[in-house]
Amino acid sequence: MERKQVQSYLQALFVEELAGQQNVPERLAKHGLPQISVPKEVGKLLYLLVKISGSKRILEIGALGGYSTTWLARALPEKGSILSLELKEEHIQLAKQTVEDCNLSSKVNFRSGDAGENLAYLRDQGEKFDFVFIDADKPNYLKYLQMALEITNPGALLVTDNLLLNGRIFNDEDQNPSAVSVRMVNKWLAEEPRVESLLLPIGDGVGLARVKE
Ligand SMILES: C[S@@+](CC[C@H](N)C(=O)[O-])C[C@H]1O[C@@H](n2cnc3c(N)ncnc32)[C@H](O)[C@@H]1O
Repeated sequence: MERKQVQSYLQALFVEELAGQQNVPERLAKHGLPQISVPKEVGKLLYLLVKISGSKRILEIGALGGYSTTWLARALPEKGSILSLELKEEHIQLAKQTVEDCNLSSKVNFRSGDAGENLAYLRDQGEKFDFVFIDADKPNYLKYLQMALEITNPGALLVTDNLLLNGRIFNDEDQNPSAVSVRMVNKWLAEEPRVESLLLPIGDGVGLARVKE
């Protein structure tokens, strides 16, 4: 069984994108940006996790063209909201267009700048979220997860993308900062007493952790 075959099967059978979401690859290409949005089936997983958990206040780290943002927003109840942290203003402008194309603007806000600094700001403001999705600079993942624990309620979900890093985590000779960081994050997720978690081998590996009461 090939991973690609499984992926195509899941996408064809289980994923229905909005027209506004279908525009994202072209929008990224037009601006010379890489196609590194979550794959469609991970988008659907995010959507289901928000629905199942009943989350109302979501924090996203890493918006790019707004593809994952719209999957999260689609699942929110009427009064739910997402704050998406994104380093680059150019990406925020593209993500805003995607969100608008999906008629989801009333639920989504963006905050530009470095996520570490913005997380510290949110913590200092006493903000609380019930769902955090992390999909940004891999070397800072552990810091983001640890800070996420300070701004989440018990029962919150912490969802982290790319935890298989295209198989690079299995090659111990790969000492690139992203590979080292992702291995450390997986160990932390497995052993950290404040969460219970699993790494789902879907897409590039999605970490799913629940903050304990
Ligand atoms: C993989 S892309 C996000 C893809 C997006 N979640 C999706 O699936 O549609 C990573 C994004 O993280 C942003 N990023 C990188 N470093 C960051 C930082 N320190 N703070 C905030 N965002 C950052 C990048 O600019 C990029 O847009």
